[in-house]
Amino acid sequence: MTTLAILTAAGSGTRLGRDLPKALVELDGFPLVLHAARRLAASGVVDSLVVTAPDGLTDVMTDLLANDPHVQVPVQVTDGGPTRQASVGAGLALARSGDDVVLVHDAARPLVPADLVRRVVGAVRSGHGAVVPGLPVTDTVKQVRPDGDAELVTGTPDRARLRAVQTPQGFARDLLVRAHRTGAARARAEHLAATDDAGLVEVLGEPVHIVPGDAAAFKITTERDLWLASLVLQESNA
Ligand code: C5P
Repeated sequence: MTTLAILTAAGSGTRLGRDLPKALVELDGFPLVLHAARRLAASGVVDSLVVTAPDGLTDVMTDLLANDPHVQVPVQVTDGGPTRQASVGAGLALARSGDDVVLVHDAARPLVPADLVRRVVGAVRSGHGAVVPGLPVTDTVKQVRPDGDAELVTGTPDRARLRAVQTPQGFARDLLVRAHRTGAARARAEHLAATDDAGLVEVLGEPVHIVPGDAAAFKITTERDLWLASLVLQESNA
């Protein structure tokens, strides 16, 4: 009974405006993917890693991760796919027979605390098939549809019942495999939005549970997020 973490790092990250993929952008002198891999390994509950690499960068990623003294778990690097979902599928194909729990984590969340990783794995091991970290939503959220040159508000969901979800998302491996096969096919056929792995589990009609997330696991999308992450690191090193 082992836990595999799939670390998705194959995106282009064009919104950061750099000429290299987001996972290789440096924070405090180290690429984002290395920060994330170190933190997953430091949790003590991840037995091995599969990292999805951008086109042509599998060797670069392998050198980076296999030689890092802080990533003390076996690492396999594989080519990612054209979408995040395809990249997760490629990683899932490399799971070993004993991997009964699979985490999916985005390299774009480099500062994920080890505690959060343990919380997610603990909840899966306690019997929940799909577990997602989530934070309360502080903004009021509007549902909209296009209306001429603007958008028309069609509803205001009760924000007390909304959660902003993060990664790592954790799954019983068999459930995640089924979600990526049957759930993904159904989502495509029925035009259902399934923008994360938990969404594919929901399409199957299987329960997804939330555990408390952590603000430190925020996602790097823009240059401002990168700046914020460097401040968070400085503060935690002080
Ligand atoms: O683009 P976004 O930030 O939503 O991507 C989330 C994560 O999925 C990133 O870590 C990115 O590297 C990864 N990804 C991937 N394969 C893709 C697209 C995104 O592994 N084709």
